[in-house]
Amino acid sequence: MGSQEKVYKNAVEIAKVLCEQKLHYGDIAIDCTMGNGNDTAFLCELVGDSGKVYAFDIQETAIENTRRLLSDYNLLERAELILDGHQNVDKYVTSKVKFVIFNLGYLPKGDHRVVTKTETTLPAIEKCLNLLQKNGVIILVLYPGHESGTEEKKNIVEYVSNLPQKEYSVSHLHFLNQINNPPELVCIEKVKD
Ligand SMILES: C[S@@+](CC[C@H](N)C(=O)[O-])C[C@H]1O[C@@H](n2cnc3c(N)ncnc32)[C@H](O)[C@@H]1O
Repeated sequence: MGSQEKVYKNAVEIAKVLCEQKLHYGDIAIDCTMGNGNDTAFLCELVGDSGKVYAFDIQETAIENTRRLLSDYNLLERAELILDGHQNVDKYVTSKVKFVIFNLGYLPKGDHRVVTKTETTLPAIEKCLNLLQKNGVIILVLYPGHESGTEEKKNIVEYVSNLPQKEYSVSHLHFLNQINNPPELVCIEKVKD
């Protein structure tokens, strides 16, 4: 039994565990960085057939790849795929949501020039905070291993560190003994409305 227990080796794995713990049947969630749709599909499975997932990306290929993936797993009806920046999230989502994920940076096998940027990520986080229901969570996976990611991480950590403690519980996880600036995780939980 003990030998089968999982060792968490990166921020993405821990993000998934938090996701599983928080997101339940019928919930509404947002994937702010759709990419190839892996996170969107995961969220769709968790919210079940009475839930809903809004997913955003600025690349047409992201929409196409995600549509294909969801349709392969019969999950397409649970999702709304939106070709627009997450900074415009409030134009599309008006109900309160339980869970939001940002998997920042660029698509590893995609166009590395299309990367998330502080000037759009921060307004998106702020808007998602307003959409979050009580006990809802925003997860950010940060990639400080590339140049603009270092800057983005610095700005995000500074911003979330200043959120009022009475309203939000904010944590930051980073692996201390891994080389090459591994991904980090920020978790924001809404304590009260
Ligand atoms: C690390 S990838 C996401 C990986 C994805 N979650 C998956 O499961 O495959 C980051 C994505 O963010 C997208 N992106 C960049 N700026 C954006 C913005 N302003 N709004 C929405 N998506 C954005 C990129 O196009 C890229 O697909």
